Amino acid sequence: MDGTAAAKVQQRWVDTLPALLEVNNVEVVYNDVILVLRGLSLKVPQGHIVALLGANGAGKSTTLKAISGLLKTEEGEITRGDILFAGERLNGIDPDRIVRKGIFQVMEGRRIIADMTVLENLRLGAFTRSDGDIRRDIEMVYGYFPRLKERTGLAGYLSGGEQQMLAIGRALMARPKLVLMDEPSMGLSPLLVKEVFGIIQRLNKDLGITILLVEQNARMALSVASYGYVMEQGKIVLDGTAEELANNEDVKEFYLGGHGAERKSFKNLKSYKRRKRWL
Ligand SMILES: Nc1ncnc2c1ncn2[C@@H]1O[C@H](COP(=O)(O)OP(=O)(O)OP(=O)(O)O)[C@@H](O)[C@H]1O
Ligand SMILES: [Mg+2]
Repeated sequence: MDGTAAAKVQQRWVDTLPALLEVNNVEVVYNDVILVLRGLSLKVPQGHIVALLGANGAGKSTTLKAISGLLKTEEGEITRGDILFAGERLNGIDPDRIVRKGIFQVMEGRRIIADMTVLENLRLGAFTRSDGDIRRDIEMVYGYFPRLKERTGLAGYLSGGEQQMLAIGRALMARPKLVLMDEPSMGLSPLLVKEVFGIIQRLNKDLGITILLVEQNARMALSVASYGYVMEQGKIVLDGTAEELANNEDVKEFYLGGHGAERKSFKNLKSYKRRKRWL
Protein backbone atom coordinates (compact mmCIF):
# COMPACT_ATOMS: atom_id res chain seq x y z
CA MET A 1 0.00 0.00 0.00
CA ASP A 2 1.50 3.36 -0.92
CA GLY A 3 1.36 6.44 1.30
CA THR A 4 -1.77 7.93 -0.24
CA ALA A 5 -3.70 4.71 0.12
CA ALA A 6 -2.68 4.44 3.76
CA ALA A 7 -3.77 8.03 4.38
CA LYS A 8 -7.12 7.26 2.79
CA VAL A 9 -7.69 4.25 5.00
CA GLN A 10 -6.87 6.30 8.09
CA GLN A 11 -9.02 9.27 7.16
CA ARG A 12 -11.83 9.77 9.63
CA TRP A 13 -15.38 9.90 8.39
CA VAL A 14 -15.86 13.44 9.67
CA ASP A 15 -12.91 14.63 7.60
CA THR A 16 -14.50 13.43 4.37
CA LEU A 17 -17.38 15.94 4.70
CA PRO A 18 -17.43 19.72 4.29
CA ALA A 19 -17.29 21.27 7.78
CA LEU A 20 -19.71 24.06 8.66
CA LEU A 21 -17.98 24.56 12.00
CA GLU A 22 -14.37 23.89 12.90
CA VAL A 23 -12.88 24.33 16.34
CA ASN A 24 -9.10 24.13 16.10
CA ASN A 25 -6.93 23.69 19.16
CA VAL A 26 -8.91 26.15 21.27
CA GLU A 27 -7.85 27.20 24.72
CA VAL A 28 -10.22 29.10 27.02
CA VAL A 29 -9.30 30.87 30.23
CA TYR A 30 -11.77 32.33 32.77
CA ASN A 31 -10.83 35.33 34.90
CA ASP A 32 -7.34 35.38 33.35
CA VAL A 33 -6.28 32.31 35.33
CA ILE A 34 -8.63 29.34 35.13
CA LEU A 35 -7.70 27.23 32.11
CA VAL A 36 -10.79 25.26 31.10
CA LEU A 37 -10.41 24.31 27.43
CA ARG A 38 -6.97 22.88 26.76
CA GLY A 39 -6.56 22.61 23.03
CA LEU A 40 -10.00 21.43 22.01
CA SER A 41 -10.64 20.50 18.38
CA LEU A 42 -13.78 19.30 16.69
CA LYS A 43 -15.66 19.51 13.42
CA VAL A 44 -19.36 19.74 12.68
CA PRO A 45 -20.15 18.75 9.09
CA GLN A 46 -22.78 20.73 7.21
CA GLY A 47 -26.27 19.25 7.62
CA HIS A 48 -25.38 16.80 10.38
CA ILE A 49 -26.12 16.38 14.08
CA VAL A 50 -22.93 16.03 16.12
CA ALA A 51 -23.00 15.00 19.79
CA LEU A 52 -20.56 16.38 22.34
CA LEU A 53 -20.49 14.15 25.41
CA GLY A 54 -18.66 14.50 28.68
CA ALA A 55 -19.03 14.41 32.44
CA ASN A 56 -19.92 17.42 34.61
CA GLY A 57 -17.29 20.12 34.45
CA ALA A 58 -15.58 18.73 31.32
CA GLY A 59 -16.07 22.05 29.54
CA LYS A 60 -19.02 21.33 27.27
CA SER A 61 -20.94 24.54 27.99
CA THR A 62 -17.70 26.51 27.78
CA THR A 63 -17.15 25.07 24.28
CA LEU A 64 -20.58 26.23 23.14
CA LYS A 65 -20.09 29.68 24.68
CA ALA A 66 -16.73 30.01 22.96
CA ILE A 67 -18.46 29.37 19.62
CA SER A 68 -21.43 31.69 20.24
CA GLY A 69 -19.34 34.52 21.66
CA LEU A 70 -21.01 34.33 25.08
CA LEU A 71 -17.77 33.83 27.03
CA LYS A 72 -17.26 37.55 27.28
CA THR A 73 -20.22 37.97 29.62
CA GLU A 74 -18.55 35.49 31.99
CA GLU A 75 -15.02 36.86 32.02
CA GLY A 76 -13.92 34.08 29.72
CA GLU A 77 -11.52 34.43 26.80
CA ILE A 78 -10.21 32.36 23.93
CA THR A 79 -6.46 32.55 24.41
CA ARG A 80 -5.37 30.18 21.64
CA GLY A 81 -6.76 28.49 18.55
CA ASP A 82 -9.43 29.28 15.98
CA ILE A 83 -13.14 28.87 15.58
CA LEU A 84 -14.20 28.83 11.94
CA PHE A 85 -17.78 29.02 10.68
CA ALA A 86 -18.14 28.39 6.96
CA GLY A 87 -14.43 29.17 6.82
CA GLU A 88 -14.76 32.53 8.58
CA ARG A 89 -12.99 33.17 11.88
CA LEU A 90 -15.37 33.84 14.78
CA ASN A 91 -12.88 34.57 17.57
CA GLY A 92 -13.63 37.86 19.31
CA ILE A 93 -16.82 38.62 17.38
CA ASP A 94 -19.79 39.93 19.42
CA PRO A 95 -22.58 37.45 20.18
CA ASP A 96 -25.28 39.36 18.26
CA ARG A 97 -23.12 39.39 15.13
CA ILE A 98 -22.57 35.67 15.52
CA VAL A 99 -26.36 35.21 15.66
CA ARG A 100 -26.62 37.23 12.45
CA LYS A 101 -24.15 34.87 10.81
CA GLY A 102 -26.55 32.01 11.53
CA ILE A 103 -25.48 30.47 14.85
CA PHE A 104 -27.96 30.26 17.71
CA GLN A 105 -27.32 28.76 21.12
CA VAL A 106 -30.10 27.15 23.15
CA MET A 107 -28.70 27.67 26.63
CA GLU A 108 -28.49 25.14 29.42
CA GLY A 109 -31.45 25.53 31.79
CA ARG A 110 -33.55 26.93 28.94
CA ARG A 111 -33.32 30.63 29.85
CA ILE A 112 -36.62 31.75 28.47
CA ILE A 113 -37.92 35.10 29.71
CA ALA A 114 -40.37 34.15 32.44
CA ASP A 115 -42.35 37.40 32.61
CA MET A 116 -42.99 37.59 28.89
CA THR A 117 -45.58 35.60 26.95
CA VAL A 118 -44.74 32.72 24.65
CA LEU A 119 -45.31 34.94 21.64
CA GLU A 120 -43.06 37.70 22.99
CA ASN A 121 -40.32 35.16 23.65
CA LEU A 122 -40.61 33.87 20.09
CA ARG A 123 -40.48 37.40 18.66
CA LEU A 124 -37.29 37.99 20.66
CA GLY A 125 -35.68 35.09 18.82
CA ALA A 126 -36.11 37.02 15.61
CA PHE A 127 -34.33 40.13 16.93
CA THR A 128 -31.63 40.00 14.30
CA ARG A 129 -34.01 39.60 11.40
CA SER A 130 -34.68 42.51 9.13
CA ASP A 131 -37.21 40.80 6.91
CA GLY A 132 -40.72 41.36 8.24
CA ASP A 133 -41.95 37.84 7.62
CA ILE A 134 -41.99 36.75 11.24
CA ARG A 135 -45.61 35.63 11.41
CA ARG A 136 -45.01 32.69 9.09
CA ASP A 137 -42.11 31.51 11.21
CA ILE A 138 -44.23 31.74 14.36
CA GLU A 139 -46.75 29.45 12.65
CA MET A 140 -43.90 27.10 11.70
CA VAL A 141 -42.77 26.97 15.36
CA TYR A 142 -46.37 26.24 16.42
CA GLY A 143 -46.39 23.48 13.80
CA TYR A 144 -43.46 21.79 15.54
CA PHE A 145 -44.73 22.58 19.03
CA PRO A 146 -48.55 22.71 18.88
CA ARG A 147 -48.73 22.90 22.67
CA LEU A 148 -47.06 26.31 22.66
CA LYS A 149 -49.90 27.79 20.65
CA GLU A 150 -52.35 26.97 23.43
CA ARG A 151 -50.26 28.65 26.11
CA THR A 152 -51.24 32.29 26.09
CA GLY A 153 -50.00 33.22 29.58
CA LEU A 154 -46.54 34.10 30.80
CA ALA A 155 -43.71 31.78 29.80
CA GLY A 156 -42.76 31.37 33.47
CA TYR A 157 -45.88 29.26 33.98
CA LEU A 158 -44.96 26.74 31.27
CA SER A 159 -43.90 23.25 32.32
CA GLY A 160 -40.23 22.31 32.05
CA GLY A 161 -40.84 20.48 28.78
CA GLU A 162 -42.80 23.37 27.32
CA GLN A 163 -40.04 25.80 28.31
CA GLN A 164 -37.52 23.62 26.50
CA MET A 165 -39.78 23.65 23.44
CA LEU A 166 -40.06 27.42 23.66
CA ALA A 167 -36.29 27.75 23.93
CA ILE A 168 -35.86 25.67 20.76
CA GLY A 169 -38.72 27.53 19.05
CA ARG A 170 -37.05 30.82 19.85
CA ALA A 171 -33.86 29.58 18.21
CA LEU A 172 -35.81 28.67 15.07
CA MET A 173 -37.10 32.24 14.84
CA ALA A 174 -33.56 33.38 14.04
CA ARG A 175 -33.54 31.05 11.00
CA PRO A 176 -30.22 29.59 12.10
CA LYS A 177 -27.83 27.50 10.03
CA LEU A 178 -26.22 26.02 13.12
CA VAL A 179 -27.93 25.46 16.48
CA LEU A 180 -25.87 24.79 19.60
CA MET A 181 -27.95 22.86 22.13
CA ASP A 182 -26.86 22.61 25.72
CA GLU A 183 -28.39 19.57 27.41
CA PRO A 184 -31.91 19.75 26.01
CA SER A 185 -32.87 16.62 27.98
CA MET A 186 -32.04 18.12 31.35
CA GLY A 187 -34.88 17.83 33.84
CA LEU A 188 -37.33 16.27 31.39
CA SER A 189 -39.28 13.04 31.84
CA PRO A 190 -38.20 10.15 29.57
CA LEU A 191 -41.29 10.64 27.45
CA LEU A 192 -40.59 14.34 26.93
CA VAL A 193 -36.93 13.65 26.22
CA LYS A 194 -38.05 11.37 23.41
CA GLU A 195 -40.39 14.02 22.07
CA VAL A 196 -37.77 16.79 22.17
CA PHE A 197 -35.16 14.60 20.48
CA GLY A 198 -37.70 13.62 17.83
CA ILE A 199 -38.17 17.29 17.10
CA ILE A 200 -34.41 17.93 17.03
CA GLN A 201 -34.16 15.22 14.41
CA ARG A 202 -36.98 16.75 12.35
CA LEU A 203 -35.39 20.21 12.45
CA ASN A 204 -32.26 18.65 11.03
CA LYS A 205 -34.07 16.62 8.37
CA ASP A 206 -36.85 19.06 7.33
CA LEU A 207 -35.02 22.36 7.68
CA GLY A 208 -31.45 21.19 7.10
CA ILE A 209 -30.26 22.80 10.32
CA THR A 210 -26.84 21.62 11.47
CA ILE A 211 -26.79 20.84 15.20
CA LEU A 212 -24.06 20.57 17.81
CA LEU A 213 -25.70 18.75 20.67
CA VAL A 214 -24.20 18.76 24.16
CA GLU A 215 -25.65 15.97 26.25
CA GLN A 216 -25.12 13.82 29.29
CA ASN A 217 -27.83 11.52 28.01
CA ALA A 218 -25.39 9.77 25.68
CA ARG A 219 -27.80 7.09 24.56
CA MET A 220 -30.33 9.61 23.34
CA ALA A 221 -27.72 11.91 21.80
CA LEU A 222 -26.04 9.06 19.89
CA SER A 223 -29.41 7.86 18.64
CA VAL A 224 -29.94 11.11 16.69
CA ALA A 225 -26.34 12.15 15.92
CA SER A 226 -24.25 10.93 13.03
CA TYR A 227 -20.93 11.69 14.73
CA GLY A 228 -19.83 12.19 18.31
CA TYR A 229 -17.02 13.54 20.46
CA VAL A 230 -16.22 12.71 24.07
CA MET A 231 -14.48 15.36 26.09
CA GLU A 232 -12.75 15.26 29.41
CA GLN A 233 -10.98 18.06 31.23
CA GLY A 234 -11.15 20.51 28.37
CA LYS A 235 -10.05 18.18 25.57
CA ILE A 236 -11.49 15.68 23.15
CA VAL A 237 -10.42 12.21 24.25
CA LEU A 238 -12.39 10.13 21.76
CA ASP A 239 -14.44 10.63 18.61
CA GLY A 240 -16.17 8.51 16.02
CA THR A 241 -19.41 7.88 14.20
CA ALA A 242 -22.39 7.60 16.51
CA GLU A 243 -22.44 3.88 15.86
CA GLU A 244 -18.75 3.48 16.70
CA LEU A 245 -19.18 5.39 19.95
CA ALA A 246 -22.34 3.52 20.92
CA ASN A 247 -20.42 0.26 20.49
CA ASN A 248 -17.21 1.47 22.14
CA GLU A 249 -16.52 -0.42 25.38
CA ASP A 250 -15.35 2.66 27.27
CA VAL A 251 -18.33 4.73 26.20
CA LYS A 252 -20.65 1.87 27.12
CA GLU A 253 -19.11 1.51 30.54
CA PHE A 254 -18.79 5.19 31.25
CA TYR A 255 -21.85 6.74 29.63
CA LEU A 256 -24.29 4.09 28.58
CA GLY A 257 -24.25 1.62 31.45
CA GLY A 258 -23.47 2.44 34.96
CA HIS A 259 -26.72 2.35 37.05
CA GLY A 260 -25.05 4.32 39.80
CA ALA A 261 -21.73 2.52 39.39
CA GLU A 262 -18.76 4.57 40.43
CA ARG A 263 -17.56 6.74 37.57
CA LYS A 264 -13.97 6.05 36.80
CA SER A 265 -11.92 8.61 34.99
CA PHE A 266 -12.33 7.94 31.31
CA LYS A 267 -8.62 8.12 30.71
CA ASN A 268 -7.91 5.37 33.24
CA LEU A 269 -9.98 2.82 31.40
CA LYS A 270 -7.86 0.01 29.97
CA SER A 271 -8.71 0.33 26.33
CA TYR A 272 -8.46 4.09 26.34
CA LYS A 273 -5.65 5.65 24.39
CA ARG A 274 -5.10 9.35 24.35
CA ARG A 275 -5.14 10.60 20.79
CA LYS A 276 -2.47 13.05 19.88
CA ARG A 277 -3.84 13.92 16.50
CA TRP A 278 -4.13 17.66 17.08
CA LEU A 279 -1.17 18.25 19.34
N1 LIG B 1 -17.62 31.83 34.42
C1 LIG B 1 -16.77 30.94 34.92
N2 LIG B 1 -15.73 31.35 35.67
C2 LIG B 1 -14.84 30.46 36.17
N3 LIG B 1 -14.87 29.14 35.95
C3 LIG B 1 -15.88 28.67 35.20
C4 LIG B 1 -16.87 29.53 34.64
N4 LIG B 1 -17.74 28.79 33.94
C5 LIG B 1 -17.30 27.52 34.06
N5 LIG B 1 -16.19 27.44 34.80
C6 LIG B 1 -15.43 26.22 35.11
O1 LIG B 1 -15.07 25.58 33.91
C7 LIG B 1 -15.20 24.18 34.01
C8 LIG B 1 -16.07 23.68 32.89
O2 LIG B 1 -17.38 24.20 33.05
P1 LIG B 1 -18.53 23.94 31.98
O3 LIG B 1 -19.74 24.60 32.49
O4 LIG B 1 -18.04 24.31 30.64
O5 LIG B 1 -18.66 22.35 32.07
P2 LIG B 1 -19.79 21.39 31.49
O6 LIG B 1 -19.08 20.29 30.80
O7 LIG B 1 -20.79 22.15 30.73
O8 LIG B 1 -20.42 20.81 32.84
P3 LIG B 1 -21.96 20.39 33.16
O9 LIG B 1 -22.14 19.02 32.59
O10 LIG B 1 -21.99 20.35 34.66
O11 LIG B 1 -22.86 21.41 32.57
C9 LIG B 1 -15.74 23.89 35.40
O12 LIG B 1 -14.68 23.52 36.22
C10 LIG B 1 -16.30 25.21 35.84
O13 LIG B 1 -16.20 25.36 37.23
MG1 LIG C 1 -22.80 22.55 30.99
